[in-house]
Amino acid sequence: TPANRPASTPANTPTTAITNIAALVTNDPSLGDGSPIGLIQDAAVVIGGDRVVWVGESSKAPATDNAVDAGGRAAVPGFVDSHSHLVFAGDRTQEFNARMSGRPYSAGGIRTTVAATRAATDDELSANVAKYLAEGLRQGTTTQETKSGYGLTVADEARALRVAARHTDEVTYLGAHIVAPELADDPAAYVALVTGDMLDACAPYARWVDVFCEKGAFDGDQARAILTAGTAKGLVPRVHANQLSYGPGVQLAVELDAASADHCTHLTDADIDALAHSRTVATLLPGAEFSTRARWPDARRLLDAGATVALSTDCNPGSSFTSSMAFCIALAVRDMGMTPDEAIWSATAGGAAALRRTDVGRLAPGARADLVLLDAPSHVHLAYRPGVPLTHAVWRAGERVR
Ligand code: NIG
Ligand code: FE
Repeated sequence: TPANRPASTPANTPTTAITNIAALVTNDPSLGDGSPIGLIQDAAVVIGGDRVVWVGESSKAPATDNAVDAGGRAAVPGFVDSHSHLVFAGDRTQEFNARMSGRPYSAGGIRTTVAATRAATDDELSANVAKYLAEGLRQGTTTQETKSGYGLTVADEARALRVAARHTDEVTYLGAHIVAPELADDPAAYVALVTGDMLDACAPYARWVDVFCEKGAFDGDQARAILTAGTAKGLVPRVHANQLSYGPGVQLAVELDAASADHCTHLTDADIDALAHSRTVATLLPGAEFSTRARWPDARRLLDAGATVALSTDCNPGSSFTSSMAFCIALAVRDMGMTPDEAIWSATAGGAAALRRTDVGRLAPGARADLVLLDAPSHVHLAYRPGVPLTHAVWRAGERVR
């Protein structure tokens, strides 16, 4: 056994030190420079099994079984993408093209993906989820939430969640994405289905329940009924709120102690105040505003009020077809008033908070060893060098996966 073996490492678990990290974002303010991102210069991280067992200055690193020289690169916690819609088939290139020549975005495009998703086989859907998860992992995403919402029948929603659950633990039931096309004339019947048979079939596969609370989707009363029915089955609420217009979504999310209110593009002062005085995270999805040419959510206003902000991709074929957390960080810094440090915190620790997780989104002893080594000397390059693939290496749960 090497000397100075970190005390928390179980015997027989080999330890690996990643040394010579120019700048390490730990997200633990008690470490490093005392900033919210707990930055340590000239750092090392020691991994034992699937956990971080030690972080600190490289010169003080304990002896380990293996060592990896980071070559003066910067490292950040693996990204936590707490909002995506990966169980789908087909794409909507034509709709995007039309939008870029001036057509507005409308949630009606969801129907195109519902038709393609219903027509796909389980294997096709599963391969699609695997493809986009792998795409995210290559870019440093080590925790990925994903949801249903393109099935909209009992069988199609249940299979979407069954497929999703093969690939990730963070699975969200979004039967209430829009009213199913065949029940468009009877939304009450669809809400009864979503809160009844569909919920019964879906709850075993999901951790979360979500609803698209928006004009043209579900109003505040319908959304409350759907979320409380989910809560009664043991699911925890999160809400697509205030994306396309002002509305009741954010207030409802806070009222129900939802883990997150997602989008938050159109917020009143009262909405901001409600979020700031709650533990509901405001999850901002700048890929959606990019791809729908909408106004940007005002992260600065939320942060200054004291709200917790997360950044996620919203990866889906309609409103935000990106799996890149780095792209979202760059947009948030350029257009939403965030500093690079704030945006990186939101894409890691913020996403973890939105998923009520404490094991991911940080690099401190006890955390899961999820780490991205960047081809850059500073974490700030994630925003400073937009569109450049900076992912040099990725560890997930202690294993080098790239
Ligand atoms: O989060 N807003 C609702 N749902 C998705 C868009 C889905 C789609 O257009 O297919 C979103 O942006
Ligand atoms: Fe979404």
